[in-house]
Amino acid sequence: MNSENFTKLARTFPEPLILLNSKGEVLKINPALTKILGYKSKQLENKLLYDIVNEPSNEVIHYLQACSKSRQMIIGCLNFCQPDRRILACRCEGAVVEPSSPSSPAIILIRLENRTSANKNFATLNEQIDNELIKEAYKRKQIESALRKSELKLRQKAKDLEDTLGELRRTQSKLIQSEKMSALGQMVAGVAHEINNPVSFIYGNIIPANQYAQDLIRIIELYQKNYPNPVEEIEAEIEAVELDFLKKDFIQLLRSMKNGTERIKEIVLSLRNFSRLDEAELKQVDIHEGIDSTLLILHNRLKAKLNHPGIEVIKRYSSLPKVDCYAGQLNQAFMNILANAIDSLDDEFNKNHNFNPQITISTELSASNIAIRIADNGSGIPFSIQSKLFDPFFTTKQVGKGTGLGLSSSYQIIVDKHHGKLSFDSSFGKGTEFIIKIPIKQCSST
Ligand SMILES: Nc1ncnc2c1ncn2[C@@H]1O[C@H](COP(=O)(O)OP(=O)(O)OP(=O)(O)O)[C@@H](O)[C@H]1O
Ligand SMILES: [Mg+2]
Repeated sequence: MNSENFTKLARTFPEPLILLNSKGEVLKINPALTKILGYKSKQLENKLLYDIVNEPSNEVIHYLQACSKSRQMIIGCLNFCQPDRRILACRCEGAVVEPSSPSSPAIILIRLENRTSANKNFATLNEQIDNELIKEAYKRKQIESALRKSELKLRQKAKDLEDTLGELRRTQSKLIQSEKMSALGQMVAGVAHEINNPVSFIYGNIIPANQYAQDLIRIIELYQKNYPNPVEEIEAEIEAVELDFLKKDFIQLLRSMKNGTERIKEIVLSLRNFSRLDEAELKQVDIHEGIDSTLLILHNRLKAKLNHPGIEVIKRYSSLPKVDCYAGQLNQAFMNILANAIDSLDDEFNKNHNFNPQITISTELSASNIAIRIADNGSGIPFSIQSKLFDPFFTTKQVGKGTGLGLSSSYQIIVDKHHGKLSFDSSFGKGTEFIIKIPIKQCSST
């Protein structure tokens, strides 16, 4: 490159440029360089580079030789001595523009950059990068938060689906249970109705039958008094039938027939009371009556049998007001809870024949609620299954014995239908107590 070409180049490049040979002789500089160094171009041209820089001459020559062999820019650093003796640190990039020949040394072009401004540029660049990074980070955060939101939405949807499924299961079990109970209720009501007529007939005739028997016995006694010596045939018959015993026993027999039919009437009443199909509406009911009817229905399972002492039922009833409730449904809940207690006591008795099975039913009034506690001294409920007890279809009983709907439907009857509470307290090996709480007054019918 000759000085003319350099001048053209120097015009198009605003950066400080210096053209020199590999010996270090400055051939040409451009105005941008004179401006940053503070020299006039004439003061520098034909000078040796190492005379105007602070670096030792051998280092400068070494750098120039490296540049004279490279078409790629060689990066270096030169500290220029300015006319006012200040030092200007410059970053330089140099490369050969005309290789050396036997007649002339190589010509090198060096581009200079004030290090302070280079640093400033670097800092500005860094700042720009930082700003871009901050923007990028902000964008990422926004994307992340959008992702998190949509994930939350998805989770919520999954939960909603789970809830709906649970609700469906509960409705299904409710339907199965109410179907079962309504069929049972109808059967119980039908049987009760059928028994009621013949029993009323027997009960109604026992009183006149008793009267007639007494009349006949009185007439026989009158005969015996007025005819103390009857004919032989009558005498023999009196002996054969043991008339004295017959007279006493006949009256007793009629009395026990009367007691028996009274008991049947009670049972029929309880069956009707229990099924209470006619009482689908909210009514004021005597809770004790409901519990007693349920116990009567379960009498067969509670009473003593061959090889079983029976289950002792201890009642601790407080005085309770009448309670607003759907009597038939509440009786079903009592029945489910009592049946579970009986199952647990039977299991325990089968393991240990010296066991004395007991169910304790207590009632109490507290503020605007009544509480009914049904406790058994059975084996209790293992902690591991306690959280599943009210789940529909949860059962620990053999296939065909339990459907696992008793407690879940009782929960619905007590909690959903009567706005009450159903809880239990049980420890394994120590028995179980179910606690039913119901408000005396229902605010609105459901
Ligand atoms: N008093 C109790 N003592 C011990 N375990 C009980 C008692 N009450 C309930 N359980 C346990 O809770 C489970 C669920 O009871 P739930 O009444 O809902 O169903 P089930 O009795 O198994 O069947 P179903 O009542 O539908 O015939 C029972 O299988 C039993 O393991
Ligand atoms: Mg049950």
